[in-house]
Amino acid sequence: MTLKKKSKRAAPARAVRPRRSVEEGPVRVIVLAAGAGSRMRSSLPKVLHRVGGRPLLEAVLDAAERLSPSETVVVLGTSRALVEASFEGRAVRVAFQDPPLGTGDAARCGLEAIEPSGGPVLVLSGDVPLLRPETLAELVRMRQAEDLDLAFLSFRPPEAGAFGRVVRDARGGVRRIVESKNATAREVKIGEVNAGVYCFRAEALGRCLSGIRKNALTGEYYLTDAVELIAAAGGRVGAIEIADWREAWGINTRRDLAAAEEIERRRSLDRALDGGVTILDPASVRIGPRVEVAADTVLHPFVSLEGRTRIGEGCEVFPFTRIADSELDAGAAVGPHCDVEGARIGPRSRVGPYSRLRPGTVLEEDVRVGNFVETKNAVLGRGTKALHLSYLGDAEIGAGVNIGAGVITCNYDGQNKNRTEIGEGAFVGSDSQLVAPVRVGRGAYVGAGSTITKDVPDGALAISRESQKNVEGWAARRRAKKAH
Ligand code: UD1
Ligand code: MG
Repeated sequence: MTLKKKSKRAAPARAVRPRRSVEEGPVRVIVLAAGAGSRMRSSLPKVLHRVGGRPLLEAVLDAAERLSPSETVVVLGTSRALVEASFEGRAVRVAFQDPPLGTGDAARCGLEAIEPSGGPVLVLSGDVPLLRPETLAELVRMRQAEDLDLAFLSFRPPEAGAFGRVVRDARGGVRRIVESKNATAREVKIGEVNAGVYCFRAEALGRCLSGIRKNALTGEYYLTDAVELIAAAGGRVGAIEIADWREAWGINTRRDLAAAEEIERRRSLDRALDGGVTILDPASVRIGPRVEVAADTVLHPFVSLEGRTRIGEGCEVFPFTRIADSELDAGAAVGPHCDVEGARIGPRSRVGPYSRLRPGTVLEEDVRVGNFVETKNAVLGRGTKALHLSYLGDAEIGAGVNIGAGVITCNYDGQNKNRTEIGEGAFVGSDSQLVAPVRVGRGAYVGAGSTITKDVPDGALAISRESQKNVEGWAARRRAKKAH
């Protein structure tokens, strides 16, 4: 269960407005992300810092997207251009807030960019990245079901720190939220805090925003004042407490960021463990939030799985290996000490130790790539082997090919990248260079130490090295000369 308690709403001070039975439209989302983020001590905007490899704002937008909102507005400040570039291609509009006068002012900017009436408005904080979409959906559902003007999420972290405290009355109804720096000594002790995630009835948001006054202490407009304003006017406010405080963790400092990273990491590990993955040393393994690992895969210590990586059943990833934005099919094995990015590794293929697979690498089934082999934009066909010290770039290599130690595709002529083609069943001897564009035919042989600059026909042998000359007795003569 995510949510701990049923809502406790403010005891209405005056007669409550009659319940509206009209069908509300789909939810609209406003994400607040214009704050200066000065507590991060960073030249990078706070919402572009990453948790589990994903920018904070992107994590929030991903969760919001799952609610299928009719519109989404992100409120941005002076670093607008940089942040906007990070979500290019999404159906998201931007509202501009400058200067940042507080969360209440930011919400007002956001509201100006959407239709004033319509479905409920979900206001999210760009620095609260770990919320699950199910929790947001539950907040939206609860507000509607209980016909509230405002429902928000609260939680109980181990230390309430700088979070806003949720002040309830004797009957448990929500009265207001007080920021820790404005709180009395008694209020500071309250353990239930505000997550910064609110679902408003559209009209209630518009009305209360115009009522929010500048905070005397900080000169900011606090969105949290909406709670007291709505409750005091006889409106209906409720809070749902999230059972697991980790989900609502907000990021203001680098310490908060480090704590979030650990929460996210543990969450992904648990997801993998629950799905049947063996993790030999959970303390040293990282699995990103968008990574999928199938059952019976074994992850060794110090493995990092990043980006949109998918690992099939019964794979094994050995120590000190990073795999990013890649796919491993069933039974593949990678590592130790490998770096794999943007690659596809086919069934039962084996990579490593010390291999580097770069974007565009495709290993079909039963391929073997060994130590100090680098591949880029290269397809290696079924059963092909490249076991030592090679560079294979912009290459199409057929099935059953043997690439000897130290073979290099010379793909770059200083201007263009050129392709190398190696036909099925070919044998490329050690220490050969294939100067692209060039083709080695099916079943052809390249003698070790050759520099191949012309196509090799199918079934031919190509040797381009200087033929060997032996000078009999030369060593003895040289030694004798030296002795004189
Ligand atoms: C806020 C809440 C606090 C809550 C906490 C949860 C207020 C006054 N306080 O505090 O009760 O416990 O979040 O994480 O709302 N922003 C703008 N424009 C501004 C100011 C902020 O867009 O002028 C954005 C920030 O970029 C951020 C979000 O609003 O994404 C929250 O602002 P932040 O300054 O981090 O508020 P907190 O101090 O964390
Ligand atoms: Mg914050």
